[in-house]
Amino acid sequence: MKPVHPSLVVLVSGNGTNLQAILDACACGWLGANVVGVVSDKPDVPAIARAARSNVPAVVVEPVPGEQRVEYDARLVGIVREMRPDFVVLAGFMRILSNEFLKFFPGQVVNLHPALPGELPGTHAIERAFAESHENWRTHSGITVHFVPDEGVDTGPVIASEVVPIHDDDTFETFAERMHECERALLVHVLSDLCQRVIQSRESESV
Ligand code: GAR
Repeated sequence: MKPVHPSLVVLVSGNGTNLQAILDACACGWLGANVVGVVSDKPDVPAIARAARSNVPAVVVEPVPGEQRVEYDARLVGIVREMRPDFVVLAGFMRILSNEFLKFFPGQVVNLHPALPGELPGTHAIERAFAESHENWRTHSGITVHFVPDEGVDTGPVIASEVVPIHDDDTFETFAERMHECERALLVHVLSDLCQRVIQSRESESV
């Protein structure tokens, strides 16, 4: 019997190049998963159009002025739970999730961060790494994919990480492209491994 592919919900805030890598890997069968929904905290971002082109439902959940983080997260929980994901993937989702959200998805929330574990948390990590290379001490940065158990910013148990060198003749663009290539590949690999494990545990439960 063909295995039922695990379900992914991808949370985004912008361009969605990593979402696109996931969608492409699912479409060609390399990643045994279904993207069942995309949620963006911003309207009119390219990530929403990418979801639409792949016939994946996309929902915009914009913060309301004056809304507390936990109130926003409670609304988000309602929408994401309806999609019944095996994993919630933060692919450039630029909000910190509170326990109000995380408590409903233990061991299921996966974040992508363009830096090595414990380094350069927050936004513009690629820009900051490149700037530090000009101060002559940073020779490399990297990519981390990790679980999100709590409200820490870009921290949590590391699933995989990869070093990305900064070459002497790099421009910001050449370095950024090397980082983006690496993050797309690493994210898809990690998701493939996680989804394989879900399929295997379902198969062993059904024997
Ligand atoms: C990616 O580079 C991702 O690693 C980064 O945002 C970008 C989103 O690009 N995430 C963080 O910085 C998290 N701290 P995308 O919208 O094209 O996938």
